[in-house]
Amino acid sequence: MGRKWREVAAIAVAVTFAAVSVVTVGKRVRKRREWGRVEGIVRELEKECETDVGRLRQLADALAVEMNAGLASEGGSKLKMLLTDVDRLPDGSEKGIYYALDLGGTNFRALQVHLGGQRSSILSHDVERQPIPRHLMTSTSEELFDFVAAALKSFVENKETCDGDVRDSGRELGFTFSFPVNQTSVSSGILIRWTKGFAIEDMVGKDVSESLQLALRRKGLDMRIVALVNDSVGTLALGYYHDPDTVAAVIFGTGTNACYIERREAIIKCQGLNTSFGIMVVNMEWGSFWSSHLPRTSYDIELDLDSPNPTEQGFEKMISGMYLGEIARKVILRMAQESDSFGVVPSKLSTPFILRTPMMAAMHEDESQSLSEVDRILSEILEVPEVHPRLRKLVMKVCDIITRRAARLAAAGIVGILKKIGREGERPLGSRSGHDTTMRRTVVAVEGGLYVSYTMFREYLHEALEEILGEDIARHVVLQVTEDGSGIGAALVAAAHSSTAVHTR
Ligand code: BGC
Repeated sequence: MGRKWREVAAIAVAVTFAAVSVVTVGKRVRKRREWGRVEGIVRELEKECETDVGRLRQLADALAVEMNAGLASEGGSKLKMLLTDVDRLPDGSEKGIYYALDLGGTNFRALQVHLGGQRSSILSHDVERQPIPRHLMTSTSEELFDFVAAALKSFVENKETCDGDVRDSGRELGFTFSFPVNQTSVSSGILIRWTKGFAIEDMVGKDVSESLQLALRRKGLDMRIVALVNDSVGTLALGYYHDPDTVAAVIFGTGTNACYIERREAIIKCQGLNTSFGIMVVNMEWGSFWSSHLPRTSYDIELDLDSPNPTEQGFEKMISGMYLGEIARKVILRMAQESDSFGVVPSKLSTPFILRTPMMAAMHEDESQSLSEVDRILSEILEVPEVHPRLRKLVMKVCDIITRRAARLAAAGIVGILKKIGREGERPLGSRSGHDTTMRRTVVAVEGGLYVSYTMFREYLHEALEEILGEDIARHVVLQVTEDGSGIGAALVAAAHSSTAVHTR
């Protein structure tokens, strides 16, 4: 090869090398830019979900103010503050065998509870859980109630045959129905609206107990509904049965709610209320709480608009188990759409509610070095191909931000209740009487898979409670888990009100 050709070849090699370098550098720059965009999405989310202690205190104050407004007049607040007609809580004198039916989330439960006649003396209780078939959540009331009545009947028959105690009559039932209900007596009430994905139009405005009673009759099961309670009320009843320092109950499950023991005089909207012991349990329906202090993101707004109940249950949509996974999915989807870090956007990632909160918890709590659980859920559930470990870490961060916000808002809610009843070290909001700052032991009964099974949620909630209340006060506040409280509690309320079930307000 002549000199000239050698020079040409050298130039060609140099040009090719330069071109390859430009492409490689270009790719690297693009990758870095993409990565920056994905990180930016997470950074923005974190900023928008900020819940510093000042904001949490404002929220607790706002909730306490709304509680007063909801007690002052019907429709005075987004908080319904429903009177439950439960004016006595089980004190231990309850005795006998009671049944309970717990309907309101992803599962329903049938229970038999044997009460021994002393505080904390549940001699035995049996539970049978069954998932509610999805199609029944949007079918007709008759189909839904026929289904649960049939399941209850087979539970009762099996139980009584096993125990050798087959009865024809005299069975009494506490019915836990975990939706907003306008109570007409302790054993009956009208459904105000559905939540948590249930949508059975013909039931709204109707008496829930009557519908169940008719279904029981159709199935030939002789049973009298003695109490109709919200799951929060059932939880409070069991909490109080075990520990009379219990003043409130909260549910962190598929949905969220709280109830508490209120003084009769504070219920201004119902003057002259006839209660046996000067108290009434109030079902707050705090899932519908709303305040401009709530840190709302574009994902929350989108979730709300796409839901069957837009503008309703605003607090619930930021806190409860039904929604946390869905918020996380929306964020991950945006990360995938705005970069190609996830490859082609998989269609599964665009499927609403495919990422359920327990899966989100599993990703969040993945302690393996390679974040293999995050990888597994991304690929098995969302069909995202294997992604860089850095990206897995970012997905984990998304779960952390959403759950931390939920838990901290939940803690602010609890403090709001304590504030309202004067158990957070200050004078009760709305009370004109003396100033008592001595802190009494205060127990809040808790139930729900989100709190019980999602450790990070629970830890963030406790951490925030301590931050808001301060260590000295927080020490006196006990969150007590009551297993199957919503169901057992309904049996207890049934027992406590057994002879008065037909009295109306
Ligand atoms: C319902 C409440 C219920 C809560 C927890 C909410 O969606 O409105 O009545 O207590 O879920 O189950």
